[in-house]
Amino acid sequence: MPHVVTQSCCSDASCTYACPVNCIQPTPDDPDFLAAEMLHVDPATCVDCGACVTACPVEAIKPHTALTEAEQPYLDINRLYHEGRARAGAKRDLLARPVPRLHVKRRPEPLRVAVIGSGPSGLYAADEVLTIPGAEATIYERLAEPYGLARFGVAPDHRRTRRISGQFEQIRSAKGLKFKLGVEVGRDVTQAELLDEYDAVIYAVGAAADRKLAIPGAELPGVTSATDFVAWYNGHPEFRDMEFDLSAERAVVIGNGNVGLDVARILTTDPERLAQTDISERALAALRASNLNEVVITGRRGPREASFTLPEILGLASAPGVELVVDPAVSAEIPGSKLEWLSRLSAASRAGTRKIHLRFYVSPARVHGTERVTDVEFAKTRSQTESGYAGTGTLATNEHTRIDAGLVLTSIGYGAEPVADLPFDDTTRTVPNHQGRVVDPVTGDPQPGTYVTGWIKRGPSGFLGTNRSDSQETVRALVEDFNAGRLDRNHAGSHA
Ligand SMILES: Cc1cc2nc3c(=O)[nH]c(=O)nc-3n(C[C@H](O)[C@H](O)[C@H](O)COP(=O)(O)OP(=O)(O)OC[C@H]3O[C@@H](n4cnc5c(N)ncnc54)[C@H](O)[C@@H]3O)c2cc1C
Ligand SMILES: NC(=O)c1ccc[n+]([C@@H]2O[C@H](COP(=O)([O-])OP(=O)(O)OC[C@H]3O[C@@H](n4cnc5c(N)ncnc54)[C@H](OP(=O)(O)O)[C@@H]3O)[C@@H](O)[C@H]2O)c1
Repeated sequence: MPHVVTQSCCSDASCTYACPVNCIQPTPDDPDFLAAEMLHVDPATCVDCGACVTACPVEAIKPHTALTEAEQPYLDINRLYHEGRARAGAKRDLLARPVPRLHVKRRPEPLRVAVIGSGPSGLYAADEVLTIPGAEATIYERLAEPYGLARFGVAPDHRRTRRISGQFEQIRSAKGLKFKLGVEVGRDVTQAELLDEYDAVIYAVGAAADRKLAIPGAELPGVTSATDFVAWYNGHPEFRDMEFDLSAERAVVIGNGNVGLDVARILTTDPERLAQTDISERALAALRASNLNEVVITGRRGPREASFTLPEILGLASAPGVELVVDPAVSAEIPGSKLEWLSRLSAASRAGTRKIHLRFYVSPARVHGTERVTDVEFAKTRSQTESGYAGTGTLATNEHTRIDAGLVLTSIGYGAEPVADLPFDDTTRTVPNHQGRVVDPVTGDPQPGTYVTGWIKRGPSGFLGTNRSDSQETVRALVEDFNAGRLDRNHAGSHA
């Protein structure tokens, strides 16, 4: 009876360390890890011990007999992944790998680290620091409530994913960890002050701002960012009082990443189901009064390049009462690929009272309307290779199409704002760093005692658990510097 990884996989990889036969792949040391959409149990080598079930913070792993109907596709997804790796000649060590340990030189005073931000990357960084005997960490968080996007980003109906907060609570209660909520670094306390008090400062401040869609009409009422909409339905203190007009029958979502799918799902889910989640009361009341019955999710490229991940599109397809309509041109190819699953979904599409329509090859050109949005004009694009969906890029054509909509949500990705006292790369919207050490963008010299992790380090990509291996890399760099004597508590002078 093999175990199976299902939709809420957060990729924190705790299961890979717990598995005695190394049957869960890819592991964080695998080059495929960062690009993987989830982890996969190999049914051929799983010994059914259940160690992974206990280790998983989001209850994503189940014995195959416990799968619900909607989870049945994960049997194939797990198996096909491993068959694909075997075909590609991937070798695997069947012995469990030990969890790497940090070796720290002893000194009279404990290592003290300030972590800025209490999202996943901040929590994982603090957790890693606390594996060092005697070390202390203090997390500074500007909001009164912790956990960043794990609290104010993850959709309320992703209830198993939200259970990651249980793991965070455990980390929070660890000896040696302090929390300072409602303190904004850069406003209430400066970096120089922190470097006086701590050996090192790790910035884990995320990238919570939206990317702006620069097309004519984008400023019209009725056009808003998915970033604001997400923060609103999650009751973020700075967004919960916003108003959204949901009186129209159709909404358009621009961008087909997982956030685009989240907002489309929330807009079309039966409010009575949402009432069983911790969606904000205000958002629930607005959704109960909503007239929306169709959401069109648009991608400027083809289905092969769609940003959403397989588990999320499967989740959308199994949403009760919602009909998922996929462009008929989507065709099957390699077994187990996202494209093949999309073609299965379009064939299996069932009727529902609300509809989600996936459109591909349409690039937003202009928003029309006078007092508020009435429709969106798109330039049709085509695959660069002209051979169906084989290309990775697209070309704009002269052909335009318009979609009527009374609400437009731009969901074209997140981005960081510059961080006080740190260098900033305006193109990637990240802090220049080398393996987490903040570096001068011109000379490449490290800024002593200053580190980054999470979205501010690598940009807005990956899952909750991806931040664990990211934070481990940063803390490894910090420990190397500590052992080499590069972390003197009075190094603040160089920053003043
Ligand atoms: C809408 C949305 C839904 C998502 N859903 C999922 C999902 O279902 N599953 C999944 O695996 N991944 C999901 N993700 C991805 C996941 O949320 C991110 O990978 C993760 O939150 C990034 O962690 P972070 O710590 O880098 O940033 P964040 O989570 O943004 O945390 C940064 C923290 O720093 C604080 N902060 C910022 N500036 C300061 C300052 N100056 N001083 C003090 N504190 C500060 C912020 O308030 C925040 O608490 C989702 C992402 C989004 C945007
Ligand atoms: N359940 C989950 O696991 C979950 C849920 C939510 C978010 N997340 C993660 O959080 C991260 C952020 O997600 P995201 O959805 O915000 O970002 P994303 O995955 O980067 O998707 C952004 C989308 O916007 C499109 N886009 C960008 N610029 C555009 C433009 N000018 N015009 C039209 N379209 C444009 C992109 O198209 P191109 O590809 O053509 O650039 C892409 O479709 C991702 O790693 C995601 O997986 C995970």
